[in-house]
Amino acid sequence: MSEATLSERGRVMAQASTRARIEPLLSNLYHPKDNPDGIIDMGTAENVSQADLFTMTSITVTNLTGQHPMTKDVSDFANSNIRTIPSAFTYGEGPWGSKRLRTAMANHMNKYYHPVSEVSPQDLIFSNGITSLLDLFGFAIASPGDGILISRPSYHAFPADFGARAEFQCVFVSSDSDDQFSAACVRNYETALLEARERGICIRALLLCNPHNPLGRCYPVSTIIALMQFCDKYGLHLLADEVYALSVFDSSSPHVPFHSVLSIDSSAHLSPNHLHVLYSMSKDFACGGLRLGCLYSRNTALMDSISAISHFGQCGALNQLFATQILEDTDWTEGFLAKSRKVLRSKFETCTQLLYRHGIEYSKNVNAGFFLWVWLLYSISFVLHPARFLLPDSFLRFAVSSFLLSSQVLTQNPTDKPFPFLSLSSHTNPWEAENTLHAKLLHDYKTYITPGSTLQAEQPGWFRLVFSQEDDVLNEGFRRLFDAIGV
Ligand SMILES: Cc1ncc(COP(=O)(O)O)c(C=O)c1O
Repeated sequence: MSEATLSERGRVMAQASTRARIEPLLSNLYHPKDNPDGIIDMGTAENVSQADLFTMTSITVTNLTGQHPMTKDVSDFANSNIRTIPSAFTYGEGPWGSKRLRTAMANHMNKYYHPVSEVSPQDLIFSNGITSLLDLFGFAIASPGDGILISRPSYHAFPADFGARAEFQCVFVSSDSDDQFSAACVRNYETALLEARERGICIRALLLCNPHNPLGRCYPVSTIIALMQFCDKYGLHLLADEVYALSVFDSSSPHVPFHSVLSIDSSAHLSPNHLHVLYSMSKDFACGGLRLGCLYSRNTALMDSISAISHFGQCGALNQLFATQILEDTDWTEGFLAKSRKVLRSKFETCTQLLYRHGIEYSKNVNAGFFLWVWLLYSISFVLHPARFLLPDSFLRFAVSSFLLSSQVLTQNPTDKPFPFLSLSSHTNPWEAENTLHAKLLHDYKTYITPGSTLQAEQPGWFRLVFSQEDDVLNEGFRRLFDAIGV
């Protein structure tokens, strides 16, 4: 009834609120001693990796050498190195970030991104995280109802971040059987753009999430250039979200190493007015709690437009000071990032071995980020083990999903025997089964992983599983997951 006190848009916002769902989860997290029945969060992409021994079922990992968790490292650094100054308790220098912070970040980007043109502090604007910058960017370049192209699957918060206030809508691009990291994918973006136009949606931008969340892969230079040319052809902005830029834990062949859009000579492909980069302290620096991210752009009108309303998302001067001192200590930063990559790689290898041994498929060629894209519709190795040697996994998944979706075999299989992961018999389609498994995991097994339906997956049965977790959490999380799906 109290909704009657709200405006129309207030009511829409009240209905969209996720607080009732998320608050009980985040306030009841698992702890081995203090809260052993708490919820395992393998859904939130935080870099809280520990480098302790990670043991699980028949696997004992002994090749982890570090001794400090990444979040603990930042905390230790802060406790022993950071000194506050009186100006850190003022409003600061304005809702774009202090000159000192922008200089430290520009130096950081110049060191690690290998930009073709040097990043200048005046081309950076800070806000309280990329989350806010997506909102601000949408306000500045789009009218309500305009669209931004994003390939599927995709980070789940983009629709709300762009859409909630700026009403900038995500138009998701399907890859069908194409590899979305290849230059061939441009035709899918073009199809999506033209279809959106027919529906009256004016596409204003393309978001390139590189390294990709949730697929954990980097885009080759050739694809980035093809996307720049596509943006130029249609007068679009190219917004590169590079929040996982320095969490690439394996750059050796055949993996594609990370290339920032800034490291590519884009002059022949796209105007600097249309090329923008997002970065943040949240992932590479394990500092999501600082709420601090930046936009790089040489489009001065865009920067002025954002500056006019960036005070709604201003980052506190104290947090800015913390980030500045972290970035200015280049020796510490270098060691921290190297260690973080090492820990991520070890955890990735351990978790993928575990999945493999339990017959769980996951998307391959991963070399970046904190997550695995796992397939829990059924055990592909159980059903089609012999065929795996002859056909690529992606083809098998596609074929079997299509078959399941079209044939109603799910409802005709009361014993569920060939599909051990989901209780499919009572469901009419696998998307429902995915939701049911998600709910079962959360409510009965107190384990949260992100279902593919919320990440715009093209096929049912995919889940994003975050492996950059403390060892206790991973051990218990996998135990509960395997228990839930009966492997
Ligand atoms: C691809 C991507 N962009 C942006 C964000 C949010 O970044 P921030 O913490 O700076 O708001 C996330 C967080 O998960 C992310 O995965």
